Amino acid sequence: MARIQTIAVVLGVLGVGMNVCCAAGPQDFAAVERGRYLVVAADCGSCHTLPGSDHSFAGDRAIETPFGYLAAPNITPDQQTGIGSWTDEQFDAAVRQGRSRNGARLYPAMPFPYYSRMSRQDVSDIRAYLNTIEPANNAVVVNRLPFPLNLRSAMIVWDALYFTPGEFRPDASKLAEWNRGAYLVQGPAHCGACHTPKTFLGGDKTSEFLRGYTLQGWTAPDITSGQGALRDWSADEIATYLESGHNTYAAAAGLMGEVIELSTSKLTDSDIKAMAAYLKDVSGAPAEGSPAADQDILAAGGAIYQDLCVACHRRDGHGVPNMFPNLAEAATVKTADPTSVVRVLLQGAQTAATDRERTAPAMPAFGWQLNDAQIAAVATYVRDHFGKAPAVSEAQVKNERVAREPIDL
Ligand code: HEC
Ligand code: HEC
Ligand code: HEC
Repeated sequence: MARIQTIAVVLGVLGVGMNVCCAAGPQDFAAVERGRYLVVAADCGSCHTLPGSDHSFAGDRAIETPFGYLAAPNITPDQQTGIGSWTDEQFDAAVRQGRSRNGARLYPAMPFPYYSRMSRQDVSDIRAYLNTIEPANNAVVVNRLPFPLNLRSAMIVWDALYFTPGEFRPDASKLAEWNRGAYLVQGPAHCGACHTPKTFLGGDKTSEFLRGYTLQGWTAPDITSGQGALRDWSADEIATYLESGHNTYAAAAGLMGEVIELSTSKLTDSDIKAMAAYLKDVSGAPAEGSPAADQDILAAGGAIYQDLCVACHRRDGHGVPNMFPNLAEAATVKTADPTSVVRVLLQGAQTAATDRERTAPAMPAFGWQLNDAQIAAVATYVRDHFGKAPAVSEAQVKNERVAREPIDL
């Protein structure tokens, strides 16, 4: 593939006309590079590439939505099964307006409500880059949703309720760095897709921007600052986390580990700083008090903690910086929803390995060793002791054990 790209670029530079998809003229070279960078920032590959596949952007990855699964389509320039024969208008309408080639509505599993903040030029650069990808002939059946959600016309209502089209408008009262960060977070990087609470129809609750949401069995914690969850994190610490997957407070696993590996760790230092500066300025809701946990359960959980957890997380929960997370600072421990803590205990977790930091320490799985009551007890102990967060019930653990059965498409 690299060879085909090089030939295309060389011929382009020589001004040789090629009427295949992959020719990039010299004037296009900068556009292709801008497009490549935006594709990383927007993490298009995370959904449109099947993990482990040789064919980048050929689609078929199953995307979990609150209503069922969709498969991401093929967005390579293949004429039959990809977007090779689409016009630029059709491509722009898909990315920024959520419209399919035939005008039908796309499901918001494709994060077009965020991509709508990009400019026409941004999207045309993205197309220029995708045109340099090797076409893959792979027909994807996208829709696996049950009736009546398989009817795209249902999305008319959704769009009317939750989709506000329109490019990002800079705030003249703020610094250029803040505006760059706001553009990235609200636009291409679509942080709110996971971190903003959703209505029962899966639309963003915009008044609760970035205040945390649970999806696919992971809690994407509140990442507001000011009086929000990240008030103690400095902008530098947010930047370190987004670059490397670790900082003094937390280690990223699961969905966020993937976002960091594929996207934020590959962005420029100045863009990471800009996002951190912006996040430091997004204010959240003040923390609430929580009910006390049962003393016997706390004692049982404390004993399990001594036996199985202190080796890595230490007696005081502070862990080892950049290696074993500080449970007293982990948002997953403090947040009201216990899903992530339970999941990490049941299944373990591998922290993100990035080019900037290659060792990735792992959290062992305890699901095979501890029963539901024991997992609930140690989770309750950790949350009460280090996070002042509510207790976890045996039923919540049981639900989480059965909810996460693997699915094949
Ligand atoms: C979170 C997952 C996700 C990300 C990230 C994502 N997409 Fe998609 N995309 C989808 C899904 C799922 C669909 C199918 C939606 C539907 O058919 O209703 C889709 C549909 C599309 C389509 C329409 C294709 C067709 O055949 O109808 C295009 C074009 C597209 N995406 C391009 C992009 C680009 C470019 C990016 C990055 C800027 C991107 N996508 C990022 C999940 C994603
Ligand atoms: C695909 C879903 C998803 C997207 C997109 C996403 N996040 Fe996350 N994020 C998560 C999850 C899940 C966690 C919890 C990670 C864990 O348990 O280790 C998290 C954790 C974090 C944390 C650590 C919070 C803490 O207190 O430990 C920060 C900071 C963060 N995300 C920022 C961002 C930013 C900035 C973006 C956009 C560039 C973003 N995230 C995009 C899912 C996502
Ligand atoms: C071998 C070392 C090791 C042991 C033993 C261990 N952990 Fe972990 N733990 C880790 C690592 C590494 C992570 C980071 C992965 C992640 O972010 O989920 C982690 C993450 C966590 C998290 C998520 C923190 C966050 O930032 O979201 C919790 C909660 C947790 N561990 C609790 C426990 C409990 C309770 C036990 C005992 C039953 C335990 N761990 C035993 C290494 C360990």
